[in-house]
Amino acid sequence: MGEIGRIVQAPEDLVAPVSVPAEAYVSPEYARAERDRLWRRAWLQAARMEDIEQVGSYITFDILDDSVIIVRASDSEIRAFHNVCPHRGRKLVDTPPGKRNASGNRAGFICGYHGWTFGLDGQNTYVEHEADWQGHLCGGRADLGRVNVDSWGGWIWINLDPGAGPLAEYLHPAASMLDPYGLEKMRPRWRKWVVFQCNWKVAMEAFCETYHVSTTHPEFMEFGQFRGWARNQGLHSNIGYEAPKGQEEDSGKLRLGVGEDPRLTTAEMQNFTWENANTNTTATLVAVANRLKDELPEGTAPADVSAYWISTARREDEARGVVWAQVDPQHTAQAGTAWQIFPNFQIGHAVNNMLCYQARPYKGDPDMCIFEAAVYELYPEGQAPQTEWEYTEPADWPPVLQQDFNNMAAVQQGMKNVGFRGAQPNPYMERSVASLHMNLARYMGTGSPTTY
Ligand code: FES
Ligand SMILES: [Fe+2]
Repeated sequence: MGEIGRIVQAPEDLVAPVSVPAEAYVSPEYARAERDRLWRRAWLQAARMEDIEQVGSYITFDILDDSVIIVRASDSEIRAFHNVCPHRGRKLVDTPPGKRNASGNRAGFICGYHGWTFGLDGQNTYVEHEADWQGHLCGGRADLGRVNVDSWGGWIWINLDPGAGPLAEYLHPAASMLDPYGLEKMRPRWRKWVVFQCNWKVAMEAFCETYHVSTTHPEFMEFGQFRGWARNQGLHSNIGYEAPKGQEEDSGKLRLGVGEDPRLTTAEMQNFTWENANTNTTATLVAVANRLKDELPEGTAPADVSAYWISTARREDEARGVVWAQVDPQHTAQAGTAWQIFPNFQIGHAVNNMLCYQARPYKGDPDMCIFEAAVYELYPEGQAPQTEWEYTEPADWPPVLQQDFNNMAAVQQGMKNVGFRGAQPNPYMERSVASLHMNLARYMGTGSPTTY
């Protein structure tokens, strides 16, 4: 037992039960401070590389008062700029009403107010009546302001802090643990977003642990045990399942259904997941799972069902030009099933698909967020579907996600209750929650979890 009420400062402390104050979720002052202390300092996932494939393609990313234009300036270079005209401050690229972001392809950017014009490198190329400034629009004064930008995993990341360290350092060890999965080769199957009534942390925390599965998603309990661990990973955290006994290789996301006949339960679990979540699996995996009963004899051992299912799906995908990553079971056991990238991005990885969540504050209101989910998979070269970010009301999301939404809205309400004494995350299964707040406190200077 550690000292009672001690502030959590190191990952070792997270092994103990801790209390997380509600301040970070509900306080308007805290939410206001986040803009400067967190969002203007952390590396943020802002877009996918495939969003801007052609030279001149651009996409915007908004975070509170700040907006960034990310543009493919040349075949080999991506640049990011503050989305504001240096003349008199008009937002340079408007987001179309009802859209998540602006995007398109241009040879340059023209401000709609007085016509100042900028190249893809951000340099000013035209000022009407430039001579009126008597030669003083030099030294970058008339150019767009640069924003730090880098890429990893197929995502484009930005950092608003001019003094930010390198992205690679920031992402350690998540990037190297996830590199074997080849996430940069995946393309979105669907992408949805919604403005939701909870703090962005409440949203992210609805997906960063497996403790809720048995109660929130009881349908899944028919298919097996979903006891999972959560580990601190520096600034980040990850979660994973314990492999069922006798199936030590089955700790990844492509899991067998348990029960009398794993041929049947695997098919049931796959069909259920496909129809009710449309995440964490692919059409190939579902199709092969549905054939297990015909292609394998009754009484086939679970480990053999698993091996057959996975290897057959892998082979059939390969035949159509979809090559899954090869990741050995020891690595899978360490990498788990999802990474929480500080502060607001989750990557639920697998060798052939992934499910990602992101939540951002909405208009500085601690009780609101922009919540996004995207499902990716591998496609044959040139055959990925063109997807848009689709605004989707909560009632129109896949049913399993609606179960999570129900908790999110109610947690936000509950945390404001005067009688709420702070969250008490499960020290083993929900350590990711404590980890987030330990790291947030370093940026925010307040809100640290304490031991009890
Ligand atoms: S504010 Fe952009 S040209 Fe005047
Ligand atoms: Fe859930």
